[in-house]
Amino acid sequence: MKKLIQIITIAFAALPLLTAQSSNVTLPQDKGPDKIDVSGYPAPMQKSYKTFAAKCSKCHTIARPINTMMTKPEWERYVKRMMHKPNSGISDAQGKDIFEFLVYDQVNRKDKNPKAFFAALSDEEIAKLKAQQQ
Ligand code: HEC
Repeated sequence: MKKLIQIITIAFAALPLLTAQSSNVTLPQDKGPDKIDVSGYPAPMQKSYKTFAAKCSKCHTIARPINTMMTKPEWERYVKRMMHKPNSGISDAQGKDIFEFLVYDQVNRKDKNPKAFFAALSDEEIAKLKAQQQ
């Protein structure tokens, strides 16, 4: 009996490790629009937008990536980083589609109107916001 209680206790303690790590901070870009009008985008990009909207809204609002400016290498690094978070639920193929969508959208929408968007924050800046919001 004691053993069973021990096992149950350990199982519950491990639970948070199995669920996805949600973002527990609000970034400035989270308050921007939460959708993109992709009606003028090529068909494969419209398809990837759906993958992006489904996968990148699991732990924080989709407004976060929609309103963040990044260069192509930054998006590459960032999509990989998000994919590798525990239980991100993003396969390699989906990650590739999402990355290609983000780069297309960066060049064709964000770069044309950079003032409407937010610069990516450093880990230190995010940590600072987190501390302020707790
Ligand atoms: C498993 C949870 C999870 C998933 C899935 C996820 N993210 Fe994130 N994302 C986070 C966390 C955590 C942070 C860091 C902020 C924080 O600590 O709350 C973050 C931050 C960001 C930022 C802010 C970058 C900055 O420096 O300003 C962007 C942009 C972003 N994510 C884009 C994406 C994209 C694109 C996807 C889909 C490929 C995605 N996220 C999927 C958890 C996730």
